[in-house]
Amino acid sequence: MKNLTTLSELSVSEIQRILDHASEFKAGKIYHGAEGKVVANLFFEPSTRTNYSFQTAELRLGCKVLAFQPQSSSLQKGESFYDTVKTFESFGVDAVVIRHTENEYYKQLSGLRIPILNGGDGTGNHPTQSLLDLMTIREEFGGFAGLRIAICGDIRHSRVAHTNLEVMARLGMDCYTAGPPEYQEDRYPHMDFDRAVEEMDVIMLLRVQNERLEEAMSMTPAQYNGKYGLNPARLARMKPGAIIMHPAPFNRGVELTDEVVECPASRIFPQVTNGVYVRMAAFRYCFGD
Ligand code: CP
Repeated sequence: MKNLTTLSELSVSEIQRILDHASEFKAGKIYHGAEGKVVANLFFEPSTRTNYSFQTAELRLGCKVLAFQPQSSSLQKGESFYDTVKTFESFGVDAVVIRHTENEYYKQLSGLRIPILNGGDGTGNHPTQSLLDLMTIREEFGGFAGLRIAICGDIRHSRVAHTNLEVMARLGMDCYTAGPPEYQEDRYPHMDFDRAVEEMDVIMLLRVQNERLEEAMSMTPAQYNGKYGLNPARLARMKPGAIIMHPAPFNRGVELTDEVVECPASRIFPQVTNGVYVRMAAFRYCFGD
């Protein structure tokens, strides 16, 4: 049994193997190793893609799924996070998928004897999002080495950015950040957004996460899009063959306009599709094959 809580603790060959298995699932391969396992999806923070694509993956693998509703649980009576998860382990579930607002919440669960699949922790890690991003990039370009990516927007509060910037650099990609200076981190190379649009193989946009910002955005959505967002004028200046990615949910009219969402260069919905297959592969990794 293995956890999947961060990608930084996985070797490059382990990551490639998960991606290979995800591609095999996409091609129709059947895996019987998870059939009949009971999986609890414990989402303590809202989610559409991660929650329901994990559920889709579980159903495709033949698992039995428990969907947890925090608002109608004993959390409302003051039960702790640890006691809630420990309760599900005590039911005898075979694995838990957890999303929580707290960074590294999984450290307090180190005594559990069932796999933990991290559906996102605070501003720290989002391993299955990163795996689906990698799968999408590999499908497009056939590999990673030498590719140039700019992750654009609110880097400071983004678990997607933090996870991707670590693993993509390890896979040989040339990684930059772009966007408003107040959202950047000194540890990553920064690039002007318009230069990134013209030079990068991959433009990955991030949602402006108003709910995590200490202060309200200091500009209107239209002003943000004019300075740091994709729109038809910037689409026309992108490098030929370059692709647009976004973990979603996205804010139409802020980091991208309506015309960008499903334009030929956009891989936003193909990312969602790949999310199911990498999550199937994540279970295969955790259940021991
Ligand atoms: N990309 C992502 O994590 O989306 P959700 O918050 O909807 O799961």
